[in-house]
Amino acid sequence: MSQPLPLPFTHQPHPSPVSPEHRAALLVNPGFGRVFTDHMVTIRYTDGQGWHDAKVEPRAPIPLDPAAAVLHYAQEIFEGLKAYRTADGGATLFRPEENARRFQESARRLAMPALPESLFLASLDELIKVDRAWIPDGDGSLYLRPFMFASEPFLGVKPSSEYLYIVIASSVGAYFKTTADAVSVWVSQDYTRAAPGGTGAAKCGGNYAASLLAQAEASRHGCDQVVFLDAVERKWVEELGGMNVFFILDDGSMVTPPLGGTILPGITRASLITLAADRGITVREEPYSLDQWRADAASGRLREAFACGTAAVLTPIGTVRSHEGDFTIGNGRSGLQTEELRTALVDIQRSRAADGHGWVHRVF
Ligand code: PLP
Ligand code: COI
Repeated sequence: MSQPLPLPFTHQPHPSPVSPEHRAALLVNPGFGRVFTDHMVTIRYTDGQGWHDAKVEPRAPIPLDPAAAVLHYAQEIFEGLKAYRTADGGATLFRPEENARRFQESARRLAMPALPESLFLASLDELIKVDRAWIPDGDGSLYLRPFMFASEPFLGVKPSSEYLYIVIASSVGAYFKTTADAVSVWVSQDYTRAAPGGTGAAKCGGNYAASLLAQAEASRHGCDQVVFLDAVERKWVEELGGMNVFFILDDGSMVTPPLGGTILPGITRASLITLAADRGITVREEPYSLDQWRADAASGRLREAFACGTAAVLTPIGTVRSHEGDFTIGNGRSGLQTEELRTALVDIQRSRAADGHGWVHRVF
């Protein structure tokens, strides 16, 4: 029995959707975040009235008053999750309730109204159903980008009284363009991402704006991603620009930086901790310093390291660069335990393995 929708959604089908032939061509090699589907979901919020006016409508530019608060004070949050095509022609999401909860937490930190979990989930289901033809086959997926921003035209610095929540969808392949099987990372020693008490644990656009200069520096040094250190001691590894990080030691145990308000509580991170425990692998959520990282890579105590997140899935880290020079982890390529964990995760996400934790949400 399907649940009644928390708000009725009005459907405005696209008058001239992309043709099946053009769509098929776009889906051959979509890259990440450049190919968009025909529709979007919009829901409005106004103080006093609450959430209203839920629509599935043609994806199109949105009219915005130049005084809209988001354009001045960056009151904006977002989420990212993927829909997968199943062998029987259906579609699934991976732990979308966790994204709904994190979206509420991000909203709280940015002084925005909480979107009810049922409305968040319904917005994803509605968009995936109408744009189901855009879910790529094979290794691809449909990346959902729910986001919300302050739309009130007002220049005073205060929480907006109006918000627009939107979901767009993008057919995607791999996040990294590199053809190597491991990525290189640049340790940012000049810029930090988040300080205690700040917005590091929230998924707000401002965190990513603040990471761009460091990411550009990483690219200048020939690296795929930036790694941030903690803002207090500039010593402890925190996370990458858009991913969490794990270290695999020579006894098979793993270390990942603890959640303490300055890093994003990744859903992939949490899932991997559970999958590791299922396999009897010890995971310590404890601080790990850049010096330790370098020393362990040199001594061979560190066997593997990987980045993880929705976009990156599990991506091995091969080379680490900083102002103090380079070092390589293992042979600079992917390792066995990383591969095993990635297979375990992806097989659940793609319904190829039993979903023992009830993580898979069936859309249709
Ligand atoms: N850290 C940052 C800064 C991110 O942007 C992301 C991606 O969403 C992650 C970690 C991983 O989070 P998740 O596994 O929920 O996608
Ligand atoms: C995600 O993985 O969903 C993110 O938001 C990270 C970004 C690199 C796209």
